[in-house]
Order: sequence, then C-alpha cells, then structure tokens
Amino acid sequence: MAVTRRHFLKTTASSTLYFAAPALVGCGAWAAAPTLSAPLPVIDATESRAFEIAAVAGETEFVAGVPSPTLGFNQPYLGPVIRVRAGAEVAASVMNRTNVPISVHWHGLLVPGDRDGGPHQQIAPGAAWRPVLPVAQPPATLWYHTHLHGETASRVYAGLAGVLIVDDGNDADRGLPATLGVDDLVLVLQDKRLDTSGIALYRPGEADLMHGFLGGAVMVNGQFGASFPVPRGIVRLRLVNAANARNFDLAFADGRTFALIATDQGYLPTPLTLSRLRLTPGERAELLVDFASGDGATLVSAPHVETGGTMEMGGMMHDMLPLPETFTAPFPVAVFAVDLSLPAPLRVIPAAFDVEDQPLPTPTTTRRFILNDMGAMMGGDMGHAGHGIPAAMTFGINGRPFDMNRLDAEAVLGATERWVISGEMMGHPFHIHGVRFLVVAENGGVPRAENAGWKDTVFVEGVTELLVRFDHPADAANPFMLHCHILEHEDLGMMGQFTVT
Ligand code: C2O
Ligand code: CU
Ligand code: CU
Repeated sequence: MAVTRRHFLKTTASSTLYFAAPALVGCGAWAAAPTLSAPLPVIDATESRAFEIAAVAGETEFVAGVPSPTLGFNQPYLGPVIRVRAGAEVAASVMNRTNVPISVHWHGLLVPGDRDGGPHQQIAPGAAWRPVLPVAQPPATLWYHTHLHGETASRVYAGLAGVLIVDDGNDADRGLPATLGVDDLVLVLQDKRLDTSGIALYRPGEADLMHGFLGGAVMVNGQFGASFPVPRGIVRLRLVNAANARNFDLAFADGRTFALIATDQGYLPTPLTLSRLRLTPGERAELLVDFASGDGATLVSAPHVETGGTMEMGGMMHDMLPLPETFTAPFPVAVFAVDLSLPAPLRVIPAAFDVEDQPLPTPTTTRRFILNDMGAMMGGDMGHAGHGIPAAMTFGINGRPFDMNRLDAEAVLGATERWVISGEMMGHPFHIHGVRFLVVAENGGVPRAENAGWKDTVFVEGVTELLVRFDHPADAANPFMLHCHILEHEDLGMMGQFTVT
C-alpha cells in the first residue's frame, strides 16, 4: 500500500494545481477501492449519565494481514464516541487494563482540575479512576486522550484517544443533522508511518522530535482509505485532529463549499461558508456539507507546512533536519458516496445558532507565553551544551521546560485575562485546559475567520492574542496545563501549568 501511495505521489508531484484536481479521486490514490468505514462504537450516556471505558492493549491490522501493536479504549485502537448531556453530572469510570500508566484527559471539557485527567492524575496499570464530570457547557465536539508527561506522544499514537460529544438534545430543533452514523459523522483524522512490511511503529528520529512526527499514510477513525455512505441532503461532519503533529489543510476535490458551524467549544453565531479549512492538532471543527445534488465528494488535504515563527534564525536547524513530510501534493482523506436508501431529512443549512452572548470583562492581567525550541537555540545560556549543537532536543515556554513541581501562572477564578502567545521557530497549536477563549488578534490584525468562535486550541503563527476566561477551579495539586499540541513538543517540555483559585 505504501508503495502504491508513493508511486501515486511521484506521478502527481510535478502538478502545481492546488485542489483543482478531481483527478485526485479514483486514480490509484488507494491501493484498493476505499473500504466502507466501520463506524466507531458509540456510548450514549445522555440518559444513563454514566459510562465506562477501559484502556486495553491489542493489535490492529492497518494493512490487511499485517498486525501492528496498538492501544485503545474498549477495543484495540482508539475508543468509542461518548455522548454526554449538557447540564448533567456524568459518572465516568476509566479502567487501565494495559501494563503502562496512563491518564485520560477530557480535552475541551470544562471541569475542575482534579477531574481534568492531566499529568497529575495518573492511572496505574490495573487501577481505575472514577471522576464525576459536571458537564456545564454548550454543545461541542470534544475528545479524550492519555496525557502523562513524556508519554503522551507514543501512547496517543498507539491509539489512546476517543471522541466526546456534548449534546443538549436540541440539535433537531436547530435544524441540524443529529443522527450519529447517518447524517452526523465523526471523523478522527490521524496519520501513520508504516515500515516496509506495513507495520505502524513509533520511532521518532531527531527531525521528528523537532518538527513533530508525521506519517505518509492518512487515517480516518483508524482506517486508511475511509469511505462513508451519506444521505442525499445536508450532512454534518465532526472533524477531530488527533494526529501527533500533522496540520490538515482540508478542501473537497470538486471545490465545493461547506458551512463551518462549530469550532472547538461549540457553535458559531452564524455558519461560515468556506472552501478550505485548516485543522491543526487538537482542534475540532463541525461542517455541514450539501449532498442534495446526489454527487459524492472526496475530502482532500494539502501537505503539511510549517509556518509562523517570529524569528528568522530558525533556518539553520530546519535546514539541517528537513521537515519529515512525505506528501508533495494534495492527498485524499475520506470519500463520501451518496446512498439513496438513507433518510435525508435536511435540505437547508440553518441561518443562525442560539449562541449565548457573554460579553467579556476588560482583562485585568496580561501574560505572555513564548513557545521555545530550546534545542535549536545557539549558545549555552539555555542550559544546554551550546556551540550550536543541542545536547538534547528540548522545548520550553518562556525559556523553561515543563516541570511537574513548578507553577507557571496563578489565575483568579472568575477573571478574564489577556494572553499573548508567540512561537519562535515555527507555528504551534497552542491549547489551554479548563478554559475557553476568544482569539482577539493574530499578528496585530483581525483573526482568521475560522478562529471566530470559542476555542480551546489555536494554531499560533507569529503572535496570537487571546481573551481567556477562568471559570473552573484548579489547585496546586491538580493544576491545568497550557501546551503545544504537537505531542513531541509537549512531551519534550513545551508545556506549563497554572492554578485557578
Ligand atoms: Cu489534548 Cu493537554 O491536551
Ligand atoms: Cu486539553
Ligand atoms: Cu510545538
């Protein structure tokens, strides 16, 4: 499969056409015909207000007949889609049946620090963790994944991730597709690097640690060549970037537009019509796509590009260790084929959503966080061997790598702060636990349209200014994290922690 893919890329590499290529579809992009994707299992906890997941080790045949060692929740790779009710208290039960320690962080769920599942809430092999989760936020597509310091990248890559949907039961009234697996589809986007026999292993080299680990084989819900039957009407796609490092730069091969209706923390006030959307690690987006014409579509992505450092000195190290991207042209992510036997109740994209309008108070505090590529710093003043050769690949924030025993900020419960985030060498997807924020400026100007709504993760290219609300408590024993969601950067120190009291 990898060979075929590489061959395909070679033959199209000279094309400078960007997304202009219906030719991308069905001309050997996949070794075999796309397979109908087995949907991720769903745990509907909206009525029961309780769910159980267990981390397990297993094997997954990403390539038929070639098992790779993987981890998952309740299954060998990835976990179920869990639906919880907005306004409910949900009793979660997480078992660790693997032989490695894990945690389960609810990314985007706004709960107190002691239930957040970050690095301080380790679940030992054989142990269980049973947090009660007060779900007090509007509907949104969230996700969950293991989050132990230094051990996040390898274990999320192995499969310890799943999707968490906050649902308030009113989507049908909003005129939104709401039947999971029919007109409401979850797509977990990831990439894998296969060895020559087709086994997916996580063995990052230095360039992978520097740029983040990219793979040349793209997966949706744990499958290559994913294909979804869709009804002849409006379909909702809930996209989750669960890749370690890959930025997906998405469009449809036929150039059709779509409506962006929600970002990380829920609905936008009005849908935004787009033909292209970038989704960086940790981010989510909900799209409405119109299949009323009866024509199917292929979702494609442009290759990964690294942009957005504030310092030009990045060139040297980056030249030494080239970006490990294997794609040189847009590549298929998922195929959608219209199935006339499926019910298609919706033909109209809603004009507006009932988003609560909460004016933010003027921030009282400004904090600046610089995301540092410390291994690439010249000289010895960052605690390294110096002389231009990094002793080890180290990342940090404001000059310091993550330390479980150091607090990097203390915020006041109920306050709003202005956070100014910048990255020196490249762009970084920046995430904050326990809060939602608004992007108020990017490089001093108006933010990109897709950053209009409430977010919890944002791709920082240059200087990004946020207004952050601290509505959920976290004490020093269970602080919230702030970090880059390139998991290699996070594990190597590009993370900090803060209390909210
Ligand atoms: Cu998605 Cu701190 O994590
Ligand atoms: Cu998070
Ligand atoms: Cu980073």
